[in-house]
Amino acid sequence: MKESTPTRLIVGITGATGTIFGVRLLQMLHGSGIETHMVMSKWGARTLIHETDYTVEQVQGIATHSYQIGDQGAVISSGSFITLGMVVIPCSMRSLAAIANGLADNLVHRAADVILKERRKLVLVVRESPLNDIHLENMLKLSRMGVVILPPVPAFYNHPQNLDDIINHVTMRILDQFDIHLDVMNRWDGTMLTGTKSVE
Ligand SMILES: Cc1cc2nc3c(=O)[nH]c(=O)nc-3n(C[C@H](O)[C@H](O)[C@H](O)COP(=O)(O)O)c2cc1C
Repeated sequence: MKESTPTRLIVGITGATGTIFGVRLLQMLHGSGIETHMVMSKWGARTLIHETDYTVEQVQGIATHSYQIGDQGAVISSGSFITLGMVVIPCSMRSLAAIANGLADNLVHRAADVILKERRKLVLVVRESPLNDIHLENMLKLSRMGVVILPPVPAFYNHPQNLDDIINHVTMRILDQFDIHLDVMNRWDGTMLTGTKSVE
């Protein structure tokens, strides 16, 4: 009998601000038993270097496997490679548009296209502000196909103390989408603090 298929998640990192979310997601899954299969776009790499202290090679080292953006022959380019799904984190408006229109001419877009055709889970951590009609229409189109549109919007109900808390909370909520529940941050427990302030 064959060994059981490992649990795998495809992680795309594209050129939107917030590449640290992609890095944090890989870090959270590192050593968890879930394989990460990472591909980073050229502008994902440029943005990573601009806004974090990480190099592309360091991020590749956190992932279980990594692939070149132009490698359309990589395993994640095929539906026969079984995965939980894919997260694009962060997801630029260009990548959103390419995925919404089936333009699978790089490995991030091809892997996402495969996830869509196989009806697996696709989560897009879209980042742009403000949004124009094209962005919104692309999001709605994909959402109607079952794609989860999950902008990295911070929560304040858990009283984050610093940026790291916000990054961890957002990333934890993204992993929840794949039924990967890591309690790295406090979750909403229904308890509201009012302190000494009166609420009308
Ligand atoms: C520092 C930096 C930050 C950027 N932030 C965003 C962003 O938040 N959202 C976005 O849609 N594009 C952003 N861009 C522009 C994209 O990187 C650009 O459209 C690129 O072509 C995206 O290609 P990709 O989707 O293949 O990574 C940013 C670019 C740079 C250099």
